[in-house]
Amino acid sequence: MKIECRVFKESQGKSEVLVVGCFEENKGHLVRSAVLDRAAKKEIEKALSSKKFEAKADEGFFLPAPFLKSAGSVFVVGLGKKEKYTLERVRRAAAKALSQAKAMRASSMRFDLESFFEKFSLGELAGAAVEGARLAGYRFERYKSKPNSKQTLKEAELVFAGEKNLPVVGKAVREAEIVSEAVCFARDLANEPANVMTPAHLAEAAKKMASANGLACRILGKEEIKRLGMGGVLAVSQGSVNPPRFVILENKVPKRVHPKPLVLVGKGITFDTGGISIKPSNDMDKMKFDMCGAAAVMGAMKAIADLKLPVKVVGLTPLCENMPGSTAQRPGDIIRCLNGKTVEVLNTDAEGRLILADALSYAARYKPMALVDIATLTGACAVTFGDVVSGLMGTDASFLERVRKAGEKAGERFWELPLYEEYGEFIRGTYADIQNISKKSAGTITAGMFLKEFADHASSWAHLDVAGTAWADSAKPLSPVGATGVGVRLFVELVKSYIE
Ligand code: BES
Ligand code: MN
Ligand code: ZN
Repeated sequence: MKIECRVFKESQGKSEVLVVGCFEENKGHLVRSAVLDRAAKKEIEKALSSKKFEAKADEGFFLPAPFLKSAGSVFVVGLGKKEKYTLERVRRAAAKALSQAKAMRASSMRFDLESFFEKFSLGELAGAAVEGARLAGYRFERYKSKPNSKQTLKEAELVFAGEKNLPVVGKAVREAEIVSEAVCFARDLANEPANVMTPAHLAEAAKKMASANGLACRILGKEEIKRLGMGGVLAVSQGSVNPPRFVILENKVPKRVHPKPLVLVGKGITFDTGGISIKPSNDMDKMKFDMCGAAAVMGAMKAIADLKLPVKVVGLTPLCENMPGSTAQRPGDIIRCLNGKTVEVLNTDAEGRLILADALSYAARYKPMALVDIATLTGACAVTFGDVVSGLMGTDASFLERVRKAGEKAGERFWELPLYEEYGEFIRGTYADIQNISKKSAGTITAGMFLKEFADHASSWAHLDVAGTAWADSAKPLSPVGATGVGVRLFVELVKSYIE
């Protein structure tokens, strides 16, 4: 599907579906529109009043429109109260309109952007509409002999009034396309089954993406990983026939606005059986998603390069398969991580923190202005937050607020959990410096405390636990079942927060 933006006067012919937004306060009256004249508005309002349409958020009505020359039918979507209006509402409205248009096998639809106008600029609204449509329209069907979803929609058009807005709206649409494509790239990586998406395969996918997008990419193999002293990555991968990889992605920035880079770290367990501390078989298939953190970093790097953002960003992704082979690590093993700290591995299923320990330590060589890691780290986080919001932890309060705000703007929510000093005792080791599981409760926080031991070189560090949000078990407004690509949009917004 192509998405075009045009001033309505110049839009092309008739579209099958016209999408019009309506605020709750307007009580079924269509106030602003780039398309509808007085008479057409009257006709639609009359039809709406018989349907008791209240314009609540997520409410929508489909109406045939014989009275319109420019459209076959109208989809009126409720935008709720103006006071509560957000870009997320616009994304969801666009997603809903798209699925409606698909359901009626339309080949074209037209968004009346003016009808969404309130609080935000036309550019912001256009970007949100594109994102909503692209993210909701994503499907992973490469292994289906016959695709489930037949793509009938050929063209979507965003229309507005003033000619002078064209450049701004056009730019916003192009940027939203780039970001959406990067989210879908991350989803594609994560939705692949683990027999295909091994550490080597994932590293190759990153390399291919890097060369297509002008990123530098270095892949460390097992020997190099050993030579450097990444004891965590080695230990986690040692039970698998698939050797580990460590991928380093860097954007090329001719003129950077900050001397120091932002470093992103993503957990890349291509499959997590738990190792010798093996997981129950129920839902173990979901552990192919245990590389969603790495996928998010790769997706974000793609978008950051594509958008040519003038901030130096480094992406680090340790990639391992956690298997219970005869060469696997045992509970009680003691390993030494890259920064020299020793760890008692009391549970081989708490493997994510072991590979992140090395990656976070490796980040020290970049002297980052800020360091962020993203991981499907603890089942406890999914228990705490469900699939509604991701966990956020870290050291520097103002940086955490920056992360939270960037997420909010991007349509990804994060909520802070405290890393109080007392929790340090929960992971103090008996025979080594620290142990990889908590002595008592607080599974998500103690995982954060563990990582803190390896992020202490950075003045600003944030840890994102996306165990509950990295994939959807049932369809969400902006994502079908499967990987959501969470983190990509946050990272793009976070990088943008350093510009201007
Ligand atoms: N990848 C899992 C965490 C996970 C579980 C994410 C379920 C999403 C859904 C992680 O490696 C893990 O197994 N964590 C353990 C830690 C425990 C042994 C301290 C967990 O959460 O049970
Ligand atoms: Mn695990
Ligand atoms: Zn895991």
